[in-house]
Amino acid sequence: MEKLLLSLVIISVFVATGEAQSKSFLINCGTNSSINVDGRRWVGDLVADNNLTVSSSGIAASTDSSIFGPLYKTARFFTDGLNYTFEGIQGNYFVRLHFCPFSFENYNVNESSFDVVANGLKLVTEFNVPGEISHKNLRLQSSGSNSSSFFLIKEYILPINMDVLVIEFFPKKGSLGFINAVEIVPVVNKLFTDPVSKVSGNGASLNLSGRGIETMYRLNVGGPEIKSREDLDLWRTWEVDSSYMITADAGLEIRNSSNITYASMNDSSVAPLLVYESARTMSNTEVLEKRFNMSWKFEVDPDFDYWIRLHFCEVVYGMANQRIFRIYINNRTASNNFDVFVQAGGMNRAYHQDYIDVVSSKTKTLWIQLGPETAAGASGTDALLNGLEIFKLSRNANLAYIETYDSTGNSAGNSKTKILWVGIGAGGASVVILAVLISFIFCYCRGQRKKLTDTKSNNPSGWRPFFLHGSITNSTANAKGAAGSQNPYASMASTRVGKWFTLAEIRAATNNFDESLVIGVGGFGKVYKGAIEDGTPAAIKRANPQSEQGLTEFETEIEMLSKLRHRHLVSMIGFCDEQNEMILVYEYMANGTLRSHLFGSDLPPLTWKQRLVACIGAARGLHYLHTGAERGIIHRDVKTTNILLDENFVAKMSDFGLSKNGPALDHTHVSTAVKGSFGYLDPEYFRRQQLTEKSDVYSFGVVLFEVICARPVINPSLPKDEVNLAEWAMGWQRQRSLETIIDPHLKGNYSADSLKKFGEIAEKCLADEGKNRPTMGEVLWHLEYVLQLHQAWMCSNNGENSSSFSQALEGLEEGEAERKNVQARGILESDIISGSQ
Ligand SMILES: *[C@@H]1O[C@H](CO)[C@@H](O)[C@H](O)[C@H]1NC(C)=O
Ligand SMILES: *[C@@H]1O[C@H](CO)[C@@H](O)[C@H](O)[C@H]1NC(C)=O
Ligand SMILES: *[C@@H]1O[C@H](CO)[C@@H](O)[C@H](O)[C@H]1NC(C)=O
Ligand SMILES: *[C@@H]1O[C@H](CO)[C@@H](O)[C@H](O)[C@H]1NC(C)=O
Ligand SMILES: *[C@@H]1O[C@H](CO)[C@@H](O)[C@H](O)[C@H]1NC(C)=O
Ligand SMILES: *[C@@H]1O[C@H](CO)[C@@H](O)[C@H](O)[C@H]1NC(C)=O
Ligand SMILES: *[C@@H]1O[C@H](CO)[C@@H](O)[C@H](O)[C@H]1NC(C)=O
Ligand SMILES: *[C@@H]1O[C@H](CO)[C@@H](O)[C@H](O)[C@H]1NC(C)=O
Ligand SMILES: *[C@@H]1O[C@H](CO)[C@@H](O)[C@H](O)[C@H]1NC(C)=O
Ligand SMILES: *[C@@H]1O[C@H](CO)[C@@H](O)[C@H](O)[C@H]1NC(C)=O
Ligand SMILES: *[C@@H]1O[C@H](CO)[C@@H](O)[C@H](O)[C@H]1NC(C)=O
Repeated sequence: MEKLLLSLVIISVFVATGEAQSKSFLINCGTNSSINVDGRRWVGDLVADNNLTVSSSGIAASTDSSIFGPLYKTARFFTDGLNYTFEGIQGNYFVRLHFCPFSFENYNVNESSFDVVANGLKLVTEFNVPGEISHKNLRLQSSGSNSSSFFLIKEYILPINMDVLVIEFFPKKGSLGFINAVEIVPVVNKLFTDPVSKVSGNGASLNLSGRGIETMYRLNVGGPEIKSREDLDLWRTWEVDSSYMITADAGLEIRNSSNITYASMNDSSVAPLLVYESARTMSNTEVLEKRFNMSWKFEVDPDFDYWIRLHFCEVVYGMANQRIFRIYINNRTASNNFDVFVQAGGMNRAYHQDYIDVVSSKTKTLWIQLGPETAAGASGTDALLNGLEIFKLSRNANLAYIETYDSTGNSAGNSKTKILWVGIGAGGASVVILAVLISFIFCYCRGQRKKLTDTKSNNPSGWRPFFLHGSITNSTANAKGAAGSQNPYASMASTRVGKWFTLAEIRAATNNFDESLVIGVGGFGKVYKGAIEDGTPAAIKRANPQSEQGLTEFETEIEMLSKLRHRHLVSMIGFCDEQNEMILVYEYMANGTLRSHLFGSDLPPLTWKQRLVACIGAARGLHYLHTGAERGIIHRDVKTTNILLDENFVAKMSDFGLSKNGPALDHTHVSTAVKGSFGYLDPEYFRRQQLTEKSDVYSFGVVLFEVICARPVINPSLPKDEVNLAEWAMGWQRQRSLETIIDPHLKGNYSADSLKKFGEIAEKCLADEGKNRPTMGEVLWHLEYVLQLHQAWMCSNNGENSSSFSQALEGLEEGEAERKNVQARGILESDIISGSQ
């Protein structure tokens, strides 16, 4: 019943590019001589045959002053438009513009003001180097020990689809501009391919296809500066982080360089291992109560989307649960219960996690904070960070932002930008067809839940009185645009809510919340095994009052469960809401989660038949949710930890905290924030943010594969193509060779026909588009058929007595009958029980 809420997103895939296109260009501007710096050759922009076209304008400038490094002794100044055109270039590239202002003849670089546009994407506008340096962004990097000279590097990551890159420089009228060096280095395509968690709270869909990226910050947290020459072939600079910390000594630097490896082989270009060798943790971990945050604050441009990448490597603890923390981005929780050891799949493993957040037009700061996990005890909580990158994503072909301190009435910086499209594309079409496709699919969850969020933020301490469910009912109705919300309390008042327990009764049942009775822990709090009244065992779920997210889910869960009775749904016995507690009492499921019987525990493995019966039970539960209740309910969090087994291994669906009423008759879907569990989430739901019953079908398909393979749906410690169970198993299923990856415990004990059929069902469930997936009813029907195939095989093979087969089926049928009974009872009782308004 664990619930980790991740609002997240799948991003695919840089399609592999022709390696032949990946070449670097290092241009030393304003000179006919080429020089070597740090082992790289910088070709003068006036050198013939340099594969570069420089438009005729521009003045080659140079200085003799010894304070400038060799690369920055020359520059190209311009007072009219200037173009650098690079040919034979395709794919994703780092484009770095080097600026190092010096005086030349009568030109005063302090008065420079110019725009830079790359293939139609505006990079900077009215750019003034000294002015820029004094207040923002990529900071000066002093060249050597010599602080009187400085330079500025602006770094971009650009998709180049047309075999040519044109960088255009435009000075403002009557002004001038300059450029010292241009560096173009191919990006390793794996740089931006990982799943991205969206920071909770807001969002709309975000499409990275064709968008440009600007590097805003790149920090080696807790360690020294990493110079560009130390960073593989990508030549990135990693700054020291301390100057961005709110309280510098809030973090203790730790270092250990022994034996660090990448958690995934393909990560080797994400950051050099040097970044992972140093880190910052909360100081005085042994002594202080860790009730503070390590906080970093960054100046950023308002009204852009930011990609935030955090680098982690656990270098101290060799076990899980030693260091658990929360990650906040702009004061919102981005991840909770974060355990680097678990995420990276071990100690000394270099791992990174990405987030996306929107910085609104009202703020110019971005806060990253790591702090204690309130649910964990003080001793278990400690934070760790090894590296941090912040990237700005372009909007409307624009990355530029200008401050609007000129008080001319222009309120938004971006309003001044004019979008220029470069007309390229004649000829060369054959190459364009092979163009690199960067297809990032981002989803943002915005809007729909705003109302809930507002309600919550008005109520920071957490709990509202139990029967004030107005906001839930109301907003559910609003989300569907339905009119029937006149009486927001009607739905609660008219449903059956079970027994109302006193806190004393609950304390008695759980031996005063005895830790030894805890059978589960999740983001919401703990689940205890208790004995109520006459000793009936029960599962008692006690919400942690700090968990606001939990509140909403609890309310949803009560609302849902009070309407639902079914043999294959875990039923609620009652609740307790005394003294700000929010406690739910469920029937006790003696055999725990389906997952625990598949892997990760030492319970005996289930037989194929037991697995099939469990899947059929869960499918029945879901089928009932989708079709049985009045309007259909979407579970939204179908996974093996939410399928529980009772003492007879009858499977029941649990955890309705995320459930939603299905679409009303005149709608085909519910638009909603993307929620659910990573690894099970329907990709179509990400793309369109439209929830249908078919999203449950997708998740159920993943469950089916999990049942076959008995491995976690996401296992970051495996090679990249095996990390995600759904992708990996689908690969094998498409080749019709599922038996290769079947749980070894099943070998020889299943019928090949049944496995084949089972695989086909799972495959259909994972169809990319919901409309091509079967309904739960169809899935159920087919699973029953699979069970029959297997039973027939067992009879002929093992001579198993066939009556057990009919018993199994009878058991299932019995469930149906029982459902009808209970449902009828539920309706009657709901008329009697009323809310205490
Ligand atoms: C480079 O330019 C300088 C002066 O402008 C000139 O003397 C020199 O011959 C040029 N060298 C080459 C290789 O063109
Ligand atoms: C220009 O491109 C050609 C072919 O790609 C390459 O052989 C040559 O070395 C390049 N010239 C320079 C100066 O990079
Ligand atoms: C700057 O460094 C150069 C050598 O890197 C040195 O010759 C020069 O004197 C230094 N200038 C100042 C002002 O320190
Ligand atoms: C720069 O290139 C753009 C597009 O290729 C073109 O429209 C513009 O005239 C060029 N500017 C100069 C100064 O050559
Ligand atoms: C630019 O301004 C800075 C400080 O405002 C000054 O120190 C520097 O000499 C100026 N540079 C030029 C080339 O005028
Ligand atoms: C992303 O944008 C590109 C072009 O702007 C478009 O072709 C593509 O369909 C978009 N993808 C999604 C998922 O919206
Ligand atoms: C560094 O890590 C290794 C194991 O990876 C450990 O044996 C060693 O003691 C650590 N060193 C320090 C200084 O913590
Ligand atoms: C590093 O790894 C090597 C081989 O994997 C091992 O022999 C060595 O003991 C390890 N060092 C530490 C400090 O863990
Ligand atoms: C985050 O909270 C701090 C105070 O803790 C506040 O100064 C800052 O403005 C907040 N940031 C945002 C983006 O709300
Ligand atoms: C840490 O920061 C978050 C977000 O700004 C805030 O909600 C939380 O109260 C802070 N925790 C502590 C212990 O200061
Ligand atoms: C790395 O990525 C490539 C292509 O993206 C893939 O073929 C390869 O299997 C991956 N390797 C690992 C170890 O994940």
